[in-house]
Amino acid sequence: MADAPSPRRVVVIGATGSIGRSTLCVIDDNRGALRAAGLAAHRNARLLADLAVRYRPDAIALTDAAAIDEFRARAGAWQGEIFVGEAAAEDLARAVDAEVVVLGSVGLSGLRPGLAAIDAGRDVALASKEVLVVAGAVVMARARARGVRVLPVDSEHSAIAQCLAGGSIADVARLILTASGGPFLRSSLDALATVTAEQALAHPTWRMGPKVTVDSATLMNKGFEVIEARWLFDVSPSKIQVMIHPQSVVHSMVEFADGATLAQLSPPDMRLPIQLALLPDTRQPVAPTRMDWTVPRTLTFEPPDLRRFPCLAQAYDAIAIGGTMPAVLEGADASAVALFLDGQLPFTEIPKAIRTAMDFHRPIAEPSLEELLAARRWAYQLIRSL
Ligand SMILES: NC(=O)c1ccc[n+]([C@@H]2O[C@H](COP(=O)([O-])OP(=O)(O)OC[C@H]3O[C@@H](n4cnc5c(N)ncnc54)[C@H](OP(=O)(O)O)[C@@H]3O)[C@@H](O)[C@H]2O)c1
Repeated sequence: MADAPSPRRVVVIGATGSIGRSTLCVIDDNRGALRAAGLAAHRNARLLADLAVRYRPDAIALTDAAAIDEFRARAGAWQGEIFVGEAAAEDLARAVDAEVVVLGSVGLSGLRPGLAAIDAGRDVALASKEVLVVAGAVVMARARARGVRVLPVDSEHSAIAQCLAGGSIADVARLILTASGGPFLRSSLDALATVTAEQALAHPTWRMGPKVTVDSATLMNKGFEVIEARWLFDVSPSKIQVMIHPQSVVHSMVEFADGATLAQLSPPDMRLPIQLALLPDTRQPVAPTRMDWTVPRTLTFEPPDLRRFPCLAQAYDAIAIGGTMPAVLEGADASAVALFLDGQLPFTEIPKAIRTAMDFHRPIAEPSLEELLAARRWAYQLIRSL
């Protein structure tokens, strides 16, 4: 009898976060096919230690060195390699023998680990969209040169990849990204001015980390996804459209040249796109969620209101200008959202701050990675100093 194939070895960057925990659920559901080979977090030593004891990875990484004593004290039963400090997640992605590295950490922190994984010849399952927003050209070129895949984890991009199985990318007329519209879909401009962090963090359909939840409320998240789609599928932004779909059942659609539109529908549950990224050639059951089509339901679609949600238009502007401008967009947004969550910036000032950074910036047309990071840093600091 032939031996069972060995499990695909998975490194999870951001193991303690929303995407990380969903990834570990997928690994639980596919024992024998998937194994957690490396886990990285920033400072949640307590949870990372519990995960190390439970999943017995070969190595872990903590990027905040101050948390390592708590980790060691709690993970006594686990023996494996430990990487600590700013470059720990990158070292882990490079060192641990794995087929795929999940980038599920917040903001741009997945960039260096992602590049390290690609350089080591590992596929990347990408949730951290900021990585492509800031450095899409660099990352995709590096992946092509190394012959590895950048697999979508975002539900919208996973949906598009699934729809593209029904036609050729050369025949695509439009990619249609759906957006729930967030908690303020029907709020007036006046009401938006007084929105609190607590209100912005109450997303109607998805449970996610704070940064992406606020980005969903401003629609910047959808703007980032337009840029992400541009790089993942090599499609001009003019062919990428956003439609508000509050039910979050249709995760995105592809319209082909012949007028046929294919859509992917499922309950809002990140385990499906994560599983498809980790086991790309199979369709295993994802417990326990399925659509119940016996329940009458209405699915609605409407164009976004760019007057109340200007962040989406800013993302289109940034990718049209190109070069360092998307890095400025992302850096300014990260800074403005952090200030909003801290109670220091009103919700409606987020797009104004981003616009200021974009207006001040003189873009570099074909930037190096260092120039992209410098532009992002400049925008981040500019917003804090204003
Ligand atoms: N959540 C979703 O459903 C969802 C869906 C699609 C895409 N995404 C994208 O996935 C990414 C993560 O989102 P999330 O909702 O999972 O965020 P989250 O719940 O806030 O989790 C963030 C994770 O990143 C880790 N982290 C923070 N700083 C880090 C650093 N410098 N180096 C390495 N790890 C670091 C955190 O570790 P500690 O816990 O130790 O601080 C935590 O594990 C975002 O880019 C988001 O846009 C999320």
